[in-house]
Amino acid sequence: MPETSLSVVELSGEHPNLPIAEVLAVLRGMGHSPRGVWVEPRVAAFPSEVDLPKLLARLAFARAAGKTWLWGELEEIQTRLPSLDLQGRRFRLRVADYLDGAPSSLESRLGELLATTGVVDLETPEVDLRLVRGRQAFLYPVSAEVNRGEFETRTARHRPFARPVVMHPRFARALVNLTGVAPGEILLDPFCGTGGILMEAFLVGARPVGGDLRQDVIEGCRRNLRHFRMEAELYATDVGEVSATMNQADAIATDPPYGRGATTRGEDLPDLLRRAFRAFHGVLRKGGRLAIALPDPELIELGRRHFAMLEWHKVRVHRSLDRYFCLFERS
Ligand SMILES: C[S@@+](CC[C@H](N)C(=O)[O-])C[C@H]1O[C@@H](n2cnc3c(N)ncnc32)[C@H](O)[C@@H]1O
Repeated sequence: MPETSLSVVELSGEHPNLPIAEVLAVLRGMGHSPRGVWVEPRVAAFPSEVDLPKLLARLAFARAAGKTWLWGELEEIQTRLPSLDLQGRRFRLRVADYLDGAPSSLESRLGELLATTGVVDLETPEVDLRLVRGRQAFLYPVSAEVNRGEFETRTARHRPFARPVVMHPRFARALVNLTGVAPGEILLDPFCGTGGILMEAFLVGARPVGGDLRQDVIEGCRRNLRHFRMEAELYATDVGEVSATMNQADAIATDPPYGRGATTRGEDLPDLLRRAFRAFHGVLRKGGRLAIALPDPELIELGRRHFAMLEWHKVRVHRSLDRYFCLFERS
């Protein structure tokens, strides 16, 4: 059994790659580039000393985190459990078995072993233990949890100004996080619409700057931000003008129109995006990252003309709408 304690982040499992990409991008933004990240479908574990509550406060696609007490093969953990001394503390143990999937009897079996030195308390435990089992098993006391319901409070129906197609706040947060933007840095959304991405940028401590072609949309966006007691710098401007209108951005996160006539004012989507990528190159600082939700993977080529392509993830936004979350870097 390895002796090194690992930081464990339990991923939400809503997508096969996006949750781990989000964790790595945020860690990078926090100045950590942990080597030897162990990736399971539902777990990221790494040997670095990270402020886990700070990390989890940013993540959209995670559930809980903590530092391991034990990790390795499940059988070894079972053998070692009786030697853990809970010193009479009240504890709860929850097991997530991502290997067998089925609700397991592990919880009671392992709980009994722990109860030799601790007292089971499901309501108000002093030590809230999780055992997550994938190819490896990780036992850790939870030190941070994501309040997933909190994202629901900002969905379209809670905004005074709403539009028909609005990205869910969790996806908007993931786009912001993919850029690795750090607190205090400028994050630009040049197709800001109702402001969903700007809100998430504000909440991670970035300085949001938004642009939209339509003055009425900018006014609606301003109303939304005021409603949630948030602030952003807003401009009614065509995307092609952003580098003339705005200061240099440290990051761009954006969800451009989908190419149905109304939202692009009749402009062909590839033409609009061609102009947009050129303008993004003009406004984004060197080394800055651009996270963009494209409706078609063929459009990625247009971005490659100006930026280095880092990664992309196909995301089902809703039943009839797929998006390609693409991450580019300005060299
Ligand atoms: C998909 S929506 C953005 C949705 C946004 N993420 C939200 O939370 O509401 C795209 C936005 O791009 C704006 N738009 C369309 N053409 C534009 C252009 N040439 N320059 C700037 N904005 C444009 C539209 O008015 C629309 O609000």
